[in-house]
Amino acid sequence: MTISGGPRKDGTSARMLQCFTESLLRSSGEHSFAFRHYDAYDCGFAPCTDCRACRRFEGCVHRDMEDFWRDFENADGIVIASPIYNLSFPAPLKVIVDRMQRYYNARFFLGKKPPIEKFRPVAFLTAAGNPREDGEMAAQQLRRIFTVTHCELVCHAMIAGTDETVEETEALFAVSNCVEKFLLSIKPDITK
Ligand SMILES: Cc1cc2nc3c(=O)[nH]c(=O)nc-3n(C[C@H](O)[C@H](O)[C@H](O)COP(=O)(O)O)c2cc1C
Repeated sequence: MTISGGPRKDGTSARMLQCFTESLLRSSGEHSFAFRHYDAYDCGFAPCTDCRACRRFEGCVHRDMEDFWRDFENADGIVIASPIYNLSFPAPLKVIVDRMQRYYNARFFLGKKPPIEKFRPVAFLTAAGNPREDGEMAAQQLRRIFTVTHCELVCHAMIAGTDETVEETEALFAVSNCVEKFLLSIKPDITK
């Protein structure tokens, strides 16, 4: 499953995602992957309203994310590519993160442990204007929600300093390192 958080279809984070998926396909040998892609801006999911219905039953009263939840729960791995906006995610991606509150409530109010059976590794690809940005606040937000969604952030590739010129080769190297770690977590047998 791939999720893009930025509005610019040809932006740095979009190119990182493309590079990641191409590299993943190249490195996977005879194993092939199928991708389900979600563009947070195009999806336009409704924000969580903290109605607390998910404390009483599993799921969400807003029915706009049913396909997303199905893919999120069944994916072999998840790749999230996003720009950093004010140390965090652009609003539409933050909506998706907040909507995962249904799993927090399934875990702590409905006693589902874990709320999602399948473990899925996550690769996080970020782009930021400031060369000193580390994307750590956004990564921290993901780690928090991953504690209840049976995911683990296995790699974080960052291209910082896009306000100025970025070394493209350095950037691609960061992404390819991430692919290796992701592949090892997703299918340990195919890297042998
Ligand atoms: C609303 C907004 C907020 C931003 N906040 C930050 C920030 O906190 N730190 C940073 O380094 N860059 C920030 N940026 C710059 C973007 O992260 C940077 O331009 C990035 O390369 C955009 O990603 P994209 O090329 O994938 O669209 C911000 C840009 C916008 C539009």
